[in-house]
Amino acid sequence: MSRIAVVPGSFDPVTLGHIDVIARAANIFDQVHVLVVHNPDKSALLPLTQRVSLLTAALREAGLPDTVSVHSWSMGLLVDYCTDVGASVLVKGIRSQVDVAYETPMAIMNRSLAGVETVFLLPDPAHAHVSSSLVRQVAGLGGDVSPYVPRVVAEYLETT
Ligand code: PNS
Repeated sequence: MSRIAVVPGSFDPVTLGHIDVIARAANIFDQVHVLVVHNPDKSALLPLTQRVSLLTAALREAGLPDTVSVHSWSMGLLVDYCTDVGASVLVKGIRSQVDVAYETPMAIMNRSLAGVETVFLLPDPAHAHVSSSLVRQVAGLGGDVSPYVPRVVAEYLETT
């Protein structure tokens, strides 16, 4: 049976840290659904459709296998998406103890709700300081974000 993992996130915008974690997930699981989630707790810089387009282009740029696909989800629980597509695992990237503290209650809740396990993957430490929120801030203040995001994202942010 094919093992499907879901890598969820806001991806506002996708960073090289995200790509690193998605690539690691692709090496472990048969199918990887990268899921762009509407997070009502955050006001997004980019519309959901734009985040999906940039993520799709960034995965192509990174040369990831076609077992990795991009989807979006804006209704209901994340575990409902997992159940709908037959995914038993969520994958989250962990940069620090702060991420562990933030992700642990959600991981336990998702297991309690639907038996979906969460696997934490460690990205390359080179990306440990990279987050979408810092990229948004640096880009908004006119800084160069090209070391932290896929080329397609850097080009998009430069022209908007
Ligand atoms: O990239 P982000 O913003 O850190 O991603 C957060 C995200 C979207 C993965 C997180 O907000 C999430 O898991 N949302 C799903 C909402 C849900 O199902 N909540 C109930 C169980 S924890």
